[in-house]
Amino acid sequence: MCGIVGYLGPQNGINIVLEGLRRLEYRGYDSAGISVLGANGRLAVFKKAGKLENLRNIVSEIHPTSNTTIGHTRWATHGEVNDTNAHPHISDSMAVDDEYSIAIVHNGIIENAPILKKELIDSGINFKSQTDSEVFLGLLLHELYQAKSSKKADYMQAILNAFKRIKGNSAFVIQTTDDNTLYALKKGAPLVCGTNQRSRELFVSSDPYALVGMADKVFFPDDGILCVLNRQNSQIRFFDLEGRPSSKVASRDQEISMQVSEKGAFEHYMLKEIFEQPERIRTLSNYYLHGNGQLLLQKIAHHHPKQIHISACGTAWHAGLVIKNFLERFNRIPCVIELASEFRYKNPILSPEDLAIFISQSGETADTLAALDLCLEQKIKTLAIVNVEGSTLHRNANESLLIQAGMEIGVASTKAFTLQALTGRMFGDVIQSKKINSAIFDKFNLLADRIEELLRSADQIQAIAEEIYNYKGFIFTGRGDDFPVALEGALKLKEIAYVHAEGYAAGELKHGPIALIDEMMVNLAIVTPKLYEKTVSNIQEIKARRGIIVTIGPANDHHLQEISNYYIPMNYEGLDELIPLYANVVSQLFSYYVAKFKGTDIDKPRNLAKSVTVE
Ligand code: F6R
Repeated sequence: MCGIVGYLGPQNGINIVLEGLRRLEYRGYDSAGISVLGANGRLAVFKKAGKLENLRNIVSEIHPTSNTTIGHTRWATHGEVNDTNAHPHISDSMAVDDEYSIAIVHNGIIENAPILKKELIDSGINFKSQTDSEVFLGLLLHELYQAKSSKKADYMQAILNAFKRIKGNSAFVIQTTDDNTLYALKKGAPLVCGTNQRSRELFVSSDPYALVGMADKVFFPDDGILCVLNRQNSQIRFFDLEGRPSSKVASRDQEISMQVSEKGAFEHYMLKEIFEQPERIRTLSNYYLHGNGQLLLQKIAHHHPKQIHISACGTAWHAGLVIKNFLERFNRIPCVIELASEFRYKNPILSPEDLAIFISQSGETADTLAALDLCLEQKIKTLAIVNVEGSTLHRNANESLLIQAGMEIGVASTKAFTLQALTGRMFGDVIQSKKINSAIFDKFNLLADRIEELLRSADQIQAIAEEIYNYKGFIFTGRGDDFPVALEGALKLKEIAYVHAEGYAAGELKHGPIALIDEMMVNLAIVTPKLYEKTVSNIQEIKARRGIIVTIGPANDHHLQEISNYYIPMNYEGLDELIPLYANVVSQLFSYYVAKFKGTDIDKPRNLAKSVTVE
């Protein structure tokens, strides 16, 4: 979703902000802009629909300089994608006398924007864009003009008043003609400030990743905390909504381990991240068996919930389905899993002995955070399975397990899925035996070895994708433990290759979807030792209707190979419950190669955002 970067310091901030925006490209966006303080003492904006490159081109022609600057990548919610709707929004010609020059950037949704807009138009404010964001700027101007009439005009107070009037989750950064100050505040949307005391620079962003290597300390303000960044004393002060100094801010040194991720020799981040899985699995094992993770695991070993609720979205929800299977099979604890967007509105049946688990790569997904808040309000114990350290989910859940996936840049989640599921398995193992068992990590490391072998033969999957990427549709099937990865395979394929794909429990096909099968439909069948005969019968049913069969199946299974059009042999030996995670890597590679042959924008698929911070 929208990315925000702001800078105050001794340097020209333009390139610094553009670099920050470049790092946030992975979040998904459709336009970009910056605002600067011009030599005439007024703010000017440069903004352009499309790729960041378009903005860079206009900036490089004009060479603006500004010690204070804010930038934004927009992911459209209200108003089509065009230059006008891009951020920053600037106050020029919004009010009659143009006394103020203010620019704002916004991430989120102002739910009561239509009502406020009407009221503001009636009071003489002109709007230039179709966005909800500009309404906040209108409110701000309105507040300033009203206060001025009583001779008390004050930016800070006007910002607080305007902020109190909006509904919904939002983060804002506000720039005025005071070159020494930026203001930022948020509710239910990510916002981080950063300082570098040596270079006397200050930063603000929607994502700490933008600040890696720039800030050495980062601050995470609570909701409703106004951050005032001051260039003169290189300090950030924090205030509550009544304007009183506040300490409701978490801070930490910027993670050294959080390196800026580059693609290296890989053509896409997604491929790099698929290939990173063995290494990241071993990192997870080391962290929890020998590293700081031991303490986290010891802390959660006491859990013995009567029932577990799992909430998450998208791929993280699929990881939740895998974890549910683990917990029910090995712990015999009933698990209820809900999409976070459903859970939050359904008045779930929760009891004090329950545990609620939230799974998220980013830790900033709006629906997942709302589901977490609901459980926190009802005093249900909460556990986060999360990748991004310092994210809202990580900070707000009662306990957290970090999945150790490292930065995931590709919009399509790959390594995070595998590590979320393994973290869930580890959690189940620890609460079952009340201690850390090395055996589970041996199994994880065996999975890492197997994935490594599979990746060495990625060419065979590429060759299959090349032959069938133009087929009409793809149905991924699997039974039992393999069903969640059938869903995940289909999601991966549709999101990056833009083809119709569905995941089904193999036994369900004949209850409807088999009507789709003809010689232009492909069935990717996940066949593993459990329920082997049943799954093979389902393949026969598809074959009888001339569907194309791609089987992910046991090595040396000649019969299965014969009935399949394409066959990917797997070594399942010793992996047991981890088999679905191994088979899923085939689907990841298959989706990647189909997308590559289709020529789509693999790392930044259309319409998608990496971190979904709106409902
Ligand atoms: C799909 C994908 C999404 C995310 C979902 C939740 O490849 O990445 O479905 O899994 O938006 O995001 P997180 O895990 O950040 O909460």
